[in-house]
Amino acid sequence: MRERISAIETEIKEYSIIETEALERFRIEYLGPKSKVKALFAELKDVAQSDKKELGQLVNKLRELAQNKFNEQQLNLVKESTVHERLDLSRPADQIIPGTRHPISIIRSEIIEIFNRIGFVVSEGPEIEDDWHNFSALNFPPEHPARDMQDTFFIEKGKDEIALRTHTSSVQVRVMENEKPPIRTISPGRVYRNEAISARAHCFFHQVEGLYIDKEVSFADLKQTLIYFAKEMFGEKAKIRLRPSFFPFTEPSAEVDVSCTICNSKGCNVCKHTGWLEILGCGMVDPNVLDSSNIDSKEYSGFAFGMGVERIAQLKYRVNDLRLYSENDIRFLKQFKSGI
Ligand code: PHE
Repeated sequence: MRERISAIETEIKEYSIIETEALERFRIEYLGPKSKVKALFAELKDVAQSDKKELGQLVNKLRELAQNKFNEQQLNLVKESTVHERLDLSRPADQIIPGTRHPISIIRSEIIEIFNRIGFVVSEGPEIEDDWHNFSALNFPPEHPARDMQDTFFIEKGKDEIALRTHTSSVQVRVMENEKPPIRTISPGRVYRNEAISARAHCFFHQVEGLYIDKEVSFADLKQTLIYFAKEMFGEKAKIRLRPSFFPFTEPSAEVDVSCTICNSKGCNVCKHTGWLEILGCGMVDPNVLDSSNIDSKEYSGFAFGMGVERIAQLKYRVNDLRLYSENDIRFLKQFKSGI
């Protein structure tokens, strides 16, 4: 009997179970009511009293061995079958819907690219600004209405005022403080103004502002740069016109209109039948601004301009409600595609 026990033990150890049918065969052969192990238990009745204890323990061990192997293999097969389920190569693939870029990102990248090509480099700065960089260094007198609570979101009032920047000209002050001319930079970024939200105004929007400072920079350079920009952005036929304006940090200052791309200047609702659309503000940097950033205004001059990205996007995509840009409606967003 001892030999048979050890022969069955080897059988059990070497039994190969690779699929569920083999597992069932194994169960019948070694664990079921008609199994080899059950038969050994039956035989125990007839063995000599002196051998009973020892042989009984051996047969018990054999049953344990078979049971453990059965449990182990059963678990392995379950694991394998779930792996196989996950790897069902015949299953149709889930459709992957690629995201689209936000129209504001597309236009911002386009504006940056256009100015990169003529040597402007991007500079960025904080959205939370002190009074100096947002206002004082830009020649805003203390009582200027743009500092009023109506326009600015103040974070800390008082002597050292902290506010959300109202334009990215603040970044240009930082560049002028830290770099020596020639300076040729554009500052894209989000800006904040305390305005009621409507189709035409929002409490935040995006700007790209530009600054060029060198010896003998003239208004003609500014105009030429803007003509270049308008043609790159709106097409070869685009024309611009400059209207006198006022900004505390530029002198002289102008507002720039581009010929209406929607009606080819014939007159339509968007250009209010004027044939022109306002796109940006600009001017020659006020000597006070240069001097307050330690750039000698007798040696250097410069021009600056600033535009709203939403405004340019509105003209390119004919989106007339500013709120659409921040509502995250997927039906609106998925209409925009870009190679940039
Ligand atoms: N900073 C101005 C604004 O936010 C735009 C501007 C920039 C005007 C540079 C002139 C020169 O409205």
